[in-house]
Amino acid sequence: MRERKNISIAGAGTMGASMAETFAKFGYNVTLYDIFPAALDKAKRLISINHETEVEHGIISAEEAKAILDRIHYTSDIQDFKNTDFMVEAILEKIDIKHKFWAEASEIVPEDAVLASNTSGLSITKIAEVVKNPERFGGMHWINPPHIIPLIEVISGEKTTKENAETIYNMALALGKKPVYVNDAPGFVLNRIQFAIMRECLNIVERGITTPEGVDDVMKYALGFRYACLGPFQVADLGGLDIFYNISSYLFADLSNADAPFGLLKEAFDNNKLGVKNGGGFYDYSDGKDEEVIKYRDQMFTKLAESLFKKE
Ligand SMILES: NC(=O)c1ccc[n+]([C@@H]2O[C@H](COP(=O)([O-])OP(=O)(O)OC[C@H]3O[C@@H](n4cnc5c(N)ncnc54)[C@H](O)[C@@H]3O)[C@@H](O)[C@H]2O)c1
Repeated sequence: MRERKNISIAGAGTMGASMAETFAKFGYNVTLYDIFPAALDKAKRLISINHETEVEHGIISAEEAKAILDRIHYTSDIQDFKNTDFMVEAILEKIDIKHKFWAEASEIVPEDAVLASNTSGLSITKIAEVVKNPERFGGMHWINPPHIIPLIEVISGEKTTKENAETIYNMALALGKKPVYVNDAPGFVLNRIQFAIMRECLNIVERGITTPEGVDDVMKYALGFRYACLGPFQVADLGGLDIFYNISSYLFADLSNADAPFGLLKEAFDNNKLGVKNGGGFYDYSDGKDEEVIKYRDQMFTKLAESLFKKE
């Protein structure tokens, strides 16, 4: 099989920065591209925050952290994709922006480069419409924070060949991840589940059943705790399917079936409160609380990953 050592990541935001760090940690040479030089500076800062936690937990040494940084080339010049063996795009989740990017980028990379989008759920077949040689294009959906969460969804569009989907799958394995093949449906699998949950959480708060803090505690101290070890079908089997059937019979009809964003999410979006990335969302992240919460999250996730998945 052809060796693929030169990785290009397009988009140096929340996802792209940590994806670049992950590839570099596993010895790949990484070109991290963003149209905005300021985004590249922010990415460097994010990677150094990641490193603080990783060094603290003994995942990498301080020397390795430095070597990882040296393997990442930061650029706003799209021509730097010329030597790409494998590319993942993590730019804005808008089809027209992704189309414009891929039409240009797929002309610059070598003909045999394997290409993937980290889209959260846009159609891979649709994005591929503008890609030169679309049979080498598929989905590689990482989960935030990408340097810690094990799962990667691997998605084939109508034109993706089996061989190229396997290349994406094997690349995920080479990065120590847990890849899962899924079909090209809106939101794939993870976001269909995540947004069904989000819709009902918004509904619960809207109807005054509890507060956002209450919802978060219910998830953290029960459902999330269980789901860290067992999937919903396994949980149901253990609980008893008669119980699950009977509860579904009276509860499904009362759950939200809203078909557009509403409630607290719409209100926050309309007021440009975007969460950690701009200082406020459902909670407040002003005065350095943004970096604190990222560190807290990464420390807790790292502990969880160590206790659940670390091989002795
Ligand atoms: N944030 C998440 O939790 C998450 C999880 C999985 C997948 N994704 C997907 O990953 C992608 C990126 O998400 P994010 O959260 O990192 O977004 P982000 O807004 O943090 O970063 C996007 C970056 O792309 C850059 N960009 C925009 N247009 C560009 C272009 N034409 N060329 C190059 N760079 C461009 C922006 O400057 C920005 O730095 C999206 O498709 C998103 O749906 C996000």
